[in-house]
Amino acid sequence: MVNNAAILDKYHAPRPQWYEELQAVVLDKDMEAYEAEIAGYKSQLFSKLKGKVKEVLEIGIGTGPNLKYYANDNNVHVVGIDPKRTMERYSRAAAAAAGLPSPNFKFLQAVGEAIPLRDASVEAVVGTLVLCSVSDVDLTLKEVKRVLKPGGSYIFVEHVAAKDGTILKFLQSILDPLQQAVADGCHLTRNTGKNISEAGFSSVELGTAFLANATLINSHIYGIATK
Ligand SMILES: C[S@@+](CC[C@H](N)C(=O)[O-])C[C@H]1O[C@@H](n2cnc3c(N)ncnc32)[C@H](O)[C@@H]1O
Repeated sequence: MVNNAAILDKYHAPRPQWYEELQAVVLDKDMEAYEAEIAGYKSQLFSKLKGKVKEVLEIGIGTGPNLKYYANDNNVHVVGIDPKRTMERYSRAAAAAAGLPSPNFKFLQAVGEAIPLRDASVEAVVGTLVLCSVSDVDLTLKEVKRVLKPGGSYIFVEHVAAKDGTILKFLQSILDPLQQAVADGCHLTRNTGKNISEAGFSSVELGTAFLANATLINSHIYGIATK
């Protein structure tokens, strides 16, 4: 099951094929230093999933940089959704490299605002650097909650606006439109931690971090929300 064209168009307006290819190549090649710096946080977060859950949904899976943390297990089944078809090849390769058998990985071309899965059907949802890019943050969180089983976990790492009054926040405000154009709708000034805290999860554990390699895309929030 995938989103139909009308839903994809509504939440992720179609981009030219070359742009979608470019976004996949850039994500694949340019995130090495960032991933190295965030690795400690991710290892800690994903240790809560490894060996403990069998069904995981990853929203905005991109090239699949998280799979190695939680999908190296024959017992886990992962569904990765992303509106860009170009991410399928990369995320499949990342799943294979993590050691996930190929029948255990499914890629669906879909958006977080309309997740094509049944209510209460997964034990965990993963989302990293994706709420900056979705069209509707609150609707995506509503969908995350809908597909989670009761007691299920939503693991997130997101970049959010810098503190008000800082030079970084000033620069983010100026550069936000440019960032959206060159980085596929990525917003620099969202306060996503607030959206997650107010989304109606039964509990939210949320930490903040400042990553030297992330320059403009700081601060970061990371944590686990439980349905
Ligand atoms: C900055 S990338 C992050 C990819 C990956 N999660 C990571 O941590 O590297 C943002 C991803 O979100 C996807 N995306 C954009 N809009 C989306 C939406 N409405 N729903 C789900 N994914 C979306 C993009 O196609 C892209 O793969």
